Amino acid sequence: MRVLVTGGAGFIGSHIVAELIGRGHDPVVFDMTEEGRDVRDAAAVRRALAGVDAVCHQAAKVGLGKDFGDAPAYVSVNDLGTAVLLTQMADAGVRRLLLAGSMVVYGEGRYACAAHGVVRPGPRAEADLKAGRFEPRCPDCGADLAPGLVSEDAPMDPRNVYATTKLAQEHLAAAWARAVGGRVISLRYHNVYGPGMPRDTPYAGVAALFRSALARGAAPRVFEDGGQRRDFVHVQDVASANAVALDALAEGPGFAAYNVGSGDPRTVGDMAQALATACGGPDPVVTGEYRLGDVRHITADSARLRRELGWRPAVAFAEGMAELSGGTARPALREAGLARQP
Ligand SMILES: NC(=O)c1ccc[n+]([C@@H]2O[C@H](COP(=O)([O-])OP(=O)(O)OC[C@H]3O[C@@H](n4cnc5c(N)ncnc54)[C@H](O)[C@@H]3O)[C@@H](O)[C@H]2O)c1
Ligand SMILES: [Zn+2]
Repeated sequence: MRVLVTGGAGFIGSHIVAELIGRGHDPVVFDMTEEGRDVRDAAAVRRALAGVDAVCHQAAKVGLGKDFGDAPAYVSVNDLGTAVLLTQMADAGVRRLLLAGSMVVYGEGRYACAAHGVVRPGPRAEADLKAGRFEPRCPDCGADLAPGLVSEDAPMDPRNVYATTKLAQEHLAAAWARAVGGRVISLRYHNVYGPGMPRDTPYAGVAALFRSALARGAAPRVFEDGGQRRDFVHVQDVASANAVALDALAEGPGFAAYNVGSGDPRTVGDMAQALATACGGPDPVVTGEYRLGDVRHITADSARLRRELGWRPAVAFAEGMAELSGGTARPALREAGLARQP
């Protein structure tokens, strides 16, 4: 299949391109960094769609931004860009779309109170964080809550501008699918890591920050008490999820969303320790610092993607972290030329 990969020069997009080539597809990269090809430029998108069977939409402004003043820039790239892409797809008769969704649409995730069952805690109070009480509390009785796995039908609760624009992308794509008889699969990625991940930008994943510290011989600094649970999924597994979802786009019109996580949740403290061990660097330091608005736990239930589309993640946590620490690029990535040095 000929697949237009927007954001195909980025971290995740470049791995998707390699994966599609490996499976005999014909990916075409459409990315701002390559001749300034912008998804908001209708004429450029129209030209790029010639002969295309499906679009894999990875292009986005990512990260959390500095403050609310960034909102127009996020909405412009992520939502206006998606709207322009969708209208051009409709005109060109392209009816198949893979969307890079995100776990951020779920907000704080799923929790249970021993007395009140499944509840939705609001943002954590600064007084609690300051006092080192990091677990979200039951909105009804104030008790500590037990984190659970978030499934695709969990309520949407975007907590910042970026998350809001990722959710709006899904709503736009679903409206498009209804209006034109299109088929959309949104893959809600959890914390993606692996070769080529951006480092030391204010927006980089926490793994990249830890790795940069270790490369300087410094200890990774872990916020809160290090007990924040996440689902770290390797970029190669995200690429293979896109490949299986591409095949599933043939199934006819409608919108579907799938979580993409490893199914093997870890704490941020575990990750820092795994990286420090793999690097032979100093042990992590737990600082108790916090950022308002950080989510305490967010872990995926990716059973649906496994069950319905037969996807299987292939990279184990320890293997992926060892690779990230520098030495051991996995062979498939080396061959694809994607094992950029950290
Ligand atoms: N990295 C993660 O952990 C993660 C988690 C959930 C979702 N996502 C989503 O995955 C997708 C890819 O993210 P990434 O981590 O690879 O980020 P990235 O920044 O490495 O890749 C994004 C790419 O999009 C391109 N781009 C940006 N604006 C563009 C525009 N207007 N027109 C054309 N190209 C444009 C950039 O040049 C870049 O190459 C994004 O949609 C992001 O929201 C990422
Ligand atoms: Zn309660």
